[in-house]
Amino acid sequence: MKAISLKGFGGVENLFLDDIEKPVPGPDQILIKVHASSVNRPDIVQREGNYPPPKGDSEVLGLEVAGTVEALGDGASDGPSRHRVGDRVFALVGGGGYAEYAVAYEGHVMPIPENLSFAQAACICETYITAYLNAVVLAEAKAEDTFLLHGGGGGVNTASIQVCKALFPESTVIVTASSGKVERVKALGVDHVIDYKTQSFADEIKTLTGGRGVDVILDHIGAAYLKDNMKCLALSGRLVIIGLMGGIKAELNLATMMVKRQKIIGSVLRSRPVPEKSAIIADFESTVMPFFANGTIAPLISDVFPLSQAADAHRAMEQGTHFGKIVLEFQ
Ligand SMILES: NC(=O)c1ccc[n+]([C@@H]2O[C@H](COP(=O)([O-])OP(=O)(O)OC[C@H]3O[C@@H](n4cnc5c(N)ncnc54)[C@H](OP(=O)(O)O)[C@@H]3O)[C@@H](O)[C@H]2O)c1
Repeated sequence: MKAISLKGFGGVENLFLDDIEKPVPGPDQILIKVHASSVNRPDIVQREGNYPPPKGDSEVLGLEVAGTVEALGDGASDGPSRHRVGDRVFALVGGGGYAEYAVAYEGHVMPIPENLSFAQAACICETYITAYLNAVVLAEAKAEDTFLLHGGGGGVNTASIQVCKALFPESTVIVTASSGKVERVKALGVDHVIDYKTQSFADEIKTLTGGRGVDVILDHIGAAYLKDNMKCLALSGRLVIIGLMGGIKAELNLATMMVKRQKIIGSVLRSRPVPEKSAIIADFESTVMPFFANGTIAPLISDVFPLSQAADAHRAMEQGTHFGKIVLEFQ
């Protein structure tokens, strides 16, 4: 089958269209004929050699797929499987998304709502589940919380805006974005946008919240934002760190954190055990997927590339001109 392989770790020039063996579904796994996959920032980190797949998962890049069920592995076929050969499905995978066929654990596979295309369905798992798990579940979000969501119009960020607004219409959502994306982020219905290129988000949050601060921060910048994030966090606030685009080491004032009873939570989705991911996905499916099915939430597709042009897709993400998700389609 066709797949994107790596000549070595490093730049986009290492990505090439390869012919590799079609995977065989193991126990409790489903083989999916992939119609679309999407690019996530962790794919770039993996390409650079800094984010290996969990043991047992494919070395091929790609964390999510949408397609049709091709075959069921042992256990997936004789249990109460709700997926049948030919069904339209989408799935979270530990690796292997940039390929014609991918295997996924049955508990990580969901049916595609009728109103969504393969391309749209390929944009849901890695970003919306990450958004829901972290900004809502782990942050113990409540209906009237104030959220600070970092990251302009990125995949996780646009997903977290939509998830917070759908689940908590009464909440206040404040977003940081680079100058060129401020207007498009505003159009998503957020309450305030802070241009992180020209404004201090800590100062702006102080003004916008009358000095109270925010209840939940979803952050993927890490070290570079820790100090200002802590300044923005309200009493009993929760800071969830899901990425480290701004470095890994920073100083923390523990006294303030303790006195203000704040929580800092670190979280990754990919390396969690299979049953844990199944439980997260089951919760996501019942809580968030109805909003896709009724049209409240629609994945935002910025660009579509054929699989053979995966290098161009990575270049587009590195240039940061995208708004929402970058899709890889299979002809
Ligand atoms: N922990 C997990 O389970 C998990 C899962 C998936 C993703 N992630 C992480 O989540 C992050 C986003 O991934 P993605 O796929 O959504 O990538 P993406 O689409 O490229 O989004 C990244 C966004 O970060 C924004 N950004 C860059 N520098 C910034 C800064 N200084 N302040 C505020 N925003 C800034 C960019 O906005 P502009 O273009 O406007 O500058 C861009 O939109 C990555 O760090 C990724 O590793 C974590």
